[in-house]
Amino acid sequence: MMDLQHGSLFLKTQKIIADKDYSVTANSRIVVVTAGVRQQEGESRLNLVQRNVNIFRHIIPPIVKHSPNCIIIVVSNPVDIMTYVTWKLSGLPKHRVIGSGTNLDTARFRFIMAEKLGIHASSFNGYILGEHGDSSVPVWSGANVAGVNLQTINPAIGTDQDRENWKDVHKLVVDSAYEVIKLKGYTNWAIGMSVADLIESLVKNLSRVHPVSTMVKGLYGISGEVYLSLPCVLNSSGMTSVINVTLTDSEVGQLRKSADTLWNIQKDLKDL
Ligand SMILES: NC(=O)c1ccc[n+]([C@@H]2O[C@H](COP(=O)([O-])OP(=O)(O)OC[C@H]3O[C@@H](n4cnc5c(N)ncnc54)[C@H](O)[C@@H]3O)[C@@H](O)[C@H]2O)c1
Repeated sequence: MMDLQHGSLFLKTQKIIADKDYSVTANSRIVVVTAGVRQQEGESRLNLVQRNVNIFRHIIPPIVKHSPNCIIIVVSNPVDIMTYVTWKLSGLPKHRVIGSGTNLDTARFRFIMAEKLGIHASSFNGYILGEHGDSSVPVWSGANVAGVNLQTINPAIGTDQDRENWKDVHKLVVDSAYEVIKLKGYTNWAIGMSVADLIESLVKNLSRVHPVSTMVKGLYGISGEVYLSLPCVLNSSGMTSVINVTLTDSEVGQLRKSADTLWNIQKDLKDL
């Protein structure tokens, strides 16, 4: 807290406080939850789950008690499951419980693709959807630069038959958190910037589209109550609509597989 307060001169932030008493958060419009255990070197995100559920049982009820109208953004991992847990524990409507999801994976994807193409990350359009983590889905069918669809140029893009091996980019995205954790112990800058970007859409009522984790029951033939990332419109009301992206059969299959993986873990969670 003090370290951040000492930067006050350079910020346009009114108040920086820290406390163990949740009443200091009263009447928040947006609450970002990053508490919890993090991955050790080589540890998967899904391995953290029950430990973080136990922590969230103590965090989410007091947050909602003091800020019943807030929008919650969950960052703690495994983020899709922790967003579901937050939705259950909070009693808030689903449009006000959002997971940072594949917003970061998509940023990594855009950075690496753009580097290869020699353009800026903001000029490569493409999404990683589904689970934040190992089973995330790169939507090669929609990847484009200025409307020029890469799959039209290279029909095999992202597949095992692709002689240009673009599939490796997705592998780099999946491995990148493990790589940063190996090198410095944790990730913080890119996740921080990507969540700040989500908050800007909420605070400024921008209705921008971001790939974030939302309740997907009933979409793409998914029947379980799971949170997964799809492109969503974010504004001051929270998550107001999900973009119905045209996906190939294989992409839908991958999404459903992620949903099954998550549901198999969620159904055994205790104390929700
Ligand atoms: N979604 C993403 O893209 C993404 C990216 C980076 C990190 N993460 C996740 O964010 C989480 C935090 O990572 P980190 O590197 O900041 O870890 P960290 O260990 O530095 O921070 C975790 C914080 O949680 C706090 N905490 C633990 N138990 C608590 C409780 N009962 N009440 C209140 N606070 C409690 C700790 O005091 C600590 O400050 C992890 O789950 C990590 O995997 C997610």
